[in-house]
Amino acid sequence: MTILGTENSSEVIDFELIKNLTVAEAKAVDQLIVNELSSDVILINQMSHYIIGSGGKRLRPMLLLLAAKALGKVSDNHLVLAAVIEFIHTATLLHDDVVDESDLRRGKESANAVWGNAASVLVGDYLYSSAFQMMVRTNNMRVMEILSTTTTAIAEGEVLQLLNCNNPDTTEAKYLEVIARKTAILFSAATRLAAVIAETDKKTEEALALYGQQLGVAFQLIDDALDYKSTTEDLGKNLGDDLAEGKPTLPLIYAISHGTESQAKIVIDAIKQGSREAFNQVYDIVIATNAIEYTEKCADEAAQKAVTALACLPESESKSALISLAKFSVQRDH
Ligand code: IPE
Ligand code: IPE
Ligand code: MG
Ligand code: MG
Repeated sequence: MTILGTENSSEVIDFELIKNLTVAEAKAVDQLIVNELSSDVILINQMSHYIIGSGGKRLRPMLLLLAAKALGKVSDNHLVLAAVIEFIHTATLLHDDVVDESDLRRGKESANAVWGNAASVLVGDYLYSSAFQMMVRTNNMRVMEILSTTTTAIAEGEVLQLLNCNNPDTTEAKYLEVIARKTAILFSAATRLAAVIAETDKKTEEALALYGQQLGVAFQLIDDALDYKSTTEDLGKNLGDDLAEGKPTLPLIYAISHGTESQAKIVIDAIKQGSREAFNQVYDIVIATNAIEYTEKCADEAAQKAVTALACLPESESKSALISLAKFSVQRDH
């Protein structure tokens, strides 16, 4: 895989090292998250602690914190919004696992597998509402505008994806539209909010928003490649969930247009059917047509755009970490 074609193209990114740069702030964010999860409704407590406590990379809050540091300092409102972003992310995961019928998340049984779909949808709603309750504390109308626009777009992205399911005619452009909304916009909100709270000029805000957006696109492209090429152990999720839902992700879209007629037919039928049955056959075709390489190339390009967007920021350790995170989003295996 090519990594960005920079001078340090062979540099392997150590995610834990980057994480160390915001360890104190991340601890404060986790404390805010835990405080916020104390509902007197026991099931809410159980489920939200289960999913939040089972880890996750905490990538989105990390991006917000690093962007804040790159702009000067991390203020209390940055910490609150980092928690808000992780709440929204977690709410989308609860809903997403219901919609995708996924029974493994973060290496553990998913919440829907343990407590059922109804409870997962309702606790997802609780997390969304809590996020908005917290966000109001910043007393900043721009923040509310950005986050409400973001959650609306995420919902649109998920619905658009639902409409594409089992449709093998889905184009690359339609797929990109889905991932821009369902995933990238939350990354973009995280980095934009860092700028809004730091009261930067518009140019810096837009640069950070673009960085987040492009990194989010790269991140989802790789997620969709990993659904074919990773291992359940590395991913903490089941492989083949996308095929089981009949999701026309980029590896499949590319395999259809670059495979032989008979290869294309197998992939088309598998998308229409939406089951794991043909996974091994589809996997072989995805590999044979270089569809994973193509998906990684697209992710690489998006990550490169993310890095370019940061040009207007002064050099700092945090800026370097943001650049490394763009590379990590392409290199990652989990
Ligand atoms: C999973 O996001 C959902 C996608 C957008 C692909 P992450 O891979 O960031 O999930 P966690 O929080 O680390 O579990
Ligand atoms: C990302 O899509 C979901 C959201 C943005 C909510 P996926 O469905 O690919 O995410 P995973 O693979 O289940 O984490
Ligand atoms: Mg899913
Ligand atoms: Mg996925």
